[in-house]
Amino acid sequence: MAERTTVAVIGAGPAGLLIGAVLAAHAVPFVIVEHRSREHVLSRIRAGVLEQASVDVLERYGLAERLHAEGLVHGGIHLQVEGERTHVDFRALVGRTVTVYGQQQVVLDLMRHHDALGSAVHYSAEDVRPEGIDGDAPVVRFRVDGVDHELRADFVVGADGYHGVCRTLVPDGVLAPAERGYDAAWLGILADVAPSTDELIYALHPEGFAMHSMRSPTVSRLYLQVDPGEDLAQWEDDRIWAALQERLGSPGWTLTPGPITEKSITPMRSSVAATLVYGRLFLAGDAGHIVPPTGAKGLNAAIADVALLGEALAAQARGDDGPLAAYSTTALARQWKIQSFSQYMTELLHVPGPDVARDERAFDYASRVGRLRYVTGSRYAQQSLAEQYTGLAIA
Ligand code: APR
Ligand code: PHB
Repeated sequence: MAERTTVAVIGAGPAGLLIGAVLAAHAVPFVIVEHRSREHVLSRIRAGVLEQASVDVLERYGLAERLHAEGLVHGGIHLQVEGERTHVDFRALVGRTVTVYGQQQVVLDLMRHHDALGSAVHYSAEDVRPEGIDGDAPVVRFRVDGVDHELRADFVVGADGYHGVCRTLVPDGVLAPAERGYDAAWLGILADVAPSTDELIYALHPEGFAMHSMRSPTVSRLYLQVDPGEDLAQWEDDRIWAALQERLGSPGWTLTPGPITEKSITPMRSSVAATLVYGRLFLAGDAGHIVPPTGAKGLNAAIADVALLGEALAAQARGDDGPLAAYSTTALARQWKIQSFSQYMTELLHVPGPDVARDERAFDYASRVGRLRYVTGSRYAQQSLAEQYTGLAIA
């Protein structure tokens, strides 16, 4: 089956679906191709904190109605060091807030938006192959229900994540990602229990980092730092709750446990491609960069990319190619600020991993306690943290 469009979008995660919404708002034709089923895309549990800048973007494209009705507006976070809890008040420090709203909910809102628009979104596409991106007539081949498709487009947007096909189309020497790993991983749980806190708690404890987040007034999301090679089978529910209570413990406060409905271990990695453009291919979201989860920047960075790229493609369709030519440079400049913040939050809150020599571990841990106490005691440091946590300007 032969089709023609202006923009072929690979991937229907938040980046792909949102760029479709931006293009639709400007009446730029697009087709989205996703290799998983709609149900699978909706079932993935990911981050849950939206920067104010991200909420503004979703609002601009008419996607914030349910977010405003059901999202939990948080005016700060709690930072904790060895049991001492300090509230970092974003409203007072920078006059901004964040909204707790699961990535799956953002994705569901986007899917409904595309349903209402009648957008072309192909789920469960097999063997997705973008070709000819270094020429001027790219084509995306794929198969749905046994039918071969040939989609011709002027531009291809790679919104297919870190493990997608689009990154692999860029020659190694051009993609040239700057990357690093961390000597820690996160064990995350979702539990059917009301959160034991009003706002998120980030805690540094000698046994490791712990965090109390949430998804709704009845669903809690919590994380524990574990070693990268940790076996999930070793973590019975009772052991998880005991470790969370110990690390998040603070005088006069108790954690209410509840039934755990999901459990997983996620490694931490940072990666930034040297360029987000190769010929007619434009990378956005996780396809271009990933961050460790501390500070919840992955989804927000994807939203910032596609707000820029969608507007740039719309300008191109009107005959102005300036914003599209500037996309990679502009998005990467912002991305490196986000990388720096995510690395800072990660190093601030985690204990050194098992490979660090014993005496260095003791030094590094004490130095992190010192750094965290500096932050909890300094309005200047808190203001900088609050500015970055609630989100830097998009362009
Ligand atoms: N062909 C088509 N689709 C693909 C392919 C492929 N070869 N490879 C991957 N995909 C799809 C995935 O199934 C997924 O639905 O691309 C989508 C990529 O979505 P995400 O991984 O969610 O990435 P992105 O949209 O950039 O969202 C940013 O924020 O919270 C963070 O990392 C988290 O997913 C999150 C991200
Ligand atoms: C989450 O709720 O999943 C979450 C919240 C804050 C973070 C990371 C993850 O920094």
